[in-house]
Amino acid sequence: MMAVLDGGAANPPPIWLMRQAGRYLPEYRAIRSKVPSFLDLCLDPDLATEVTLQPIRRFGFDAAIVFSDILMTPFALGRSVRFVEGEGPRLDPIDEPGIAGLAVDRVETALAPLFATVSKVRESLDPDKALIGFCGAPWTVATYMVAGRGTPDQAPARTLAARKTASFQRLIDRLVDASVTSLIGQLHAGADAVQIFDSWAGILNERDFGRWSIGPTVEIVRRVREAVPGARIIGFPKGAGLRLERYARETGVDAVGLDWTVPLDYARERLQPHVAVQGNLDPIVLLAGGDGLDRAIDGLIEGLAGGRFIFNLGHGILPETPIAHVERLVGRVHGTS
Ligand code: CP3
Repeated sequence: MMAVLDGGAANPPPIWLMRQAGRYLPEYRAIRSKVPSFLDLCLDPDLATEVTLQPIRRFGFDAAIVFSDILMTPFALGRSVRFVEGEGPRLDPIDEPGIAGLAVDRVETALAPLFATVSKVRESLDPDKALIGFCGAPWTVATYMVAGRGTPDQAPARTLAARKTASFQRLIDRLVDASVTSLIGQLHAGADAVQIFDSWAGILNERDFGRWSIGPTVEIVRRVREAVPGARIIGFPKGAGLRLERYARETGVDAVGLDWTVPLDYARERLQPHVAVQGNLDPIVLLAGGDGLDRAIDGLIEGLAGGRFIFNLGHGILPETPIAHVERLVGRVHGTS
């Protein structure tokens, strides 16, 4: 994994899966049922360490991703965040006075449990396996803060950005500050690389993609590398499509995540010469299994493993995914089945 991020190729490629710790695993559900809320799990370094390591023990993935959530950033900024069973996240929607009142001085203290989890995981993780830290990109986190929940098109944040641009810029600026603190803290605690999840980048028009997705990411990359020279950073602007090239060039990330719609020849010809790529198996194909899964795995390896490539899904694993399909995937990628 680290060799690929450093500019080399590896065949077989390293593999890990976004959301690899989670509800599709019975051992995760057992731990989850011991705590009242999802946030309690994220804030308990012992339990968060355990669930981070569960998928590594079971499947032998090449990287672990620290168990937390992108909405820990608004939580650390003092906003109310809760997760409603079966419905998703709920936040108190932020308005202009709320944005003006955001304070970044307590972020580092509020994120202490996350940093403690990173250190604990690094202590027990095999030195050959990479540990990935992460945060949500400012744009994606802002969409949840403004709407107070997930929406199909993030219209509330897009509307605020268009109507009250100066206030929205201020929100993004505070999220850049908090993200920089989070990523530097995770790298100092022992993360080998960090990923910036911009799950809603694809909904932005061309101009706003530059302003709200690329711009803040450029700033985060610059400030993180200033504090941690050579920090390895993966950017995942989901839905960016043909704009991935521009994103990779302008942000200077070491790897870009590809969602499952990105054509492999585009990734091979336009991205891999400049940056490592990570992805992009369709989570539905993994859930469905069978020959279709085998063909998709082989196609991805044939298409991308000649260059800098990290095997992953094109988005998070679905909770209904059968464990046997994940075993089959890892075996086929590692060449052991
Ligand atoms: O990848 C990993 O294993 C690390 C943990 C991780 C979680 N969320 C745990 C989680 C990571 C990297 C995330 C990222 C995240 N969180 C994103 C970006 C990636 C993406 O999926 O687009 C976003 C948008 C969120 C916000 C979020 N958290 C939502 C919308 C939800 C509810 C939807 C759902 O799947 O339930 C969550 C909850 C959440 N985050 C769960 C997990 C394991 C499920 C809650 C539970 O187990 O009770």
